[in-house]
Amino acid sequence: MSIHPLERRWFVVATLLVVVMGGLIVYNAAAMKIHPPSNVETIDSTRLHLTEEFAEDKLGVARRADGAVVVRLVMARYMVHPQEITLPAETPIVLRAASADVLHGLHVAGTNIGTQVVPGYVSEVRTTIRFDAVSRIGVANPDGSVTVPLFCNEYCGLGHQSMWGRVRVTRP
Ligand code: CUA
Repeated sequence: MSIHPLERRWFVVATLLVVVMGGLIVYNAAAMKIHPPSNVETIDSTRLHLTEEFAEDKLGVARRADGAVVVRLVMARYMVHPQEITLPAETPIVLRAASADVLHGLHVAGTNIGTQVVPGYVSEVRTTIRFDAVSRIGVANPDGSVTVPLFCNEYCGLGHQSMWGRVRVTRP
């Protein structure tokens, strides 16, 4: 069986594309630490305010007994609660978010925090914010910290574009 030279060339091109794209996924995961969050944990989105973890007075940043920084956020049309949080750079962070209504997206500029926030589930992101990365794109504050935006990146309704907050990142 003979293969036309042109077809052979396209076969090589297509194979190279698959190899390059597969390599990019491995590179992003290994070197850039970009990977899909895989937390499967359910919650009743209609009763978030009554839960132990996502009641209004439990939201925001807290230090766990073991020193880890835990952030709890609720996304609801068209707000992120709380709207401003302060996080230390170069410190392990556990971010937990829940939606009170529809599908939202949560992205913090300059970090690898990016996840869907699906109603009925708790989204969890474990990461460390790099100060040099946020300071390249954020707004410098007089006290040396840097503020970057946090926003919804899944279309969730007419007010989607106004659904954002601020993350103030402090120096390590
Ligand atoms: Cu919430 Cu878009």
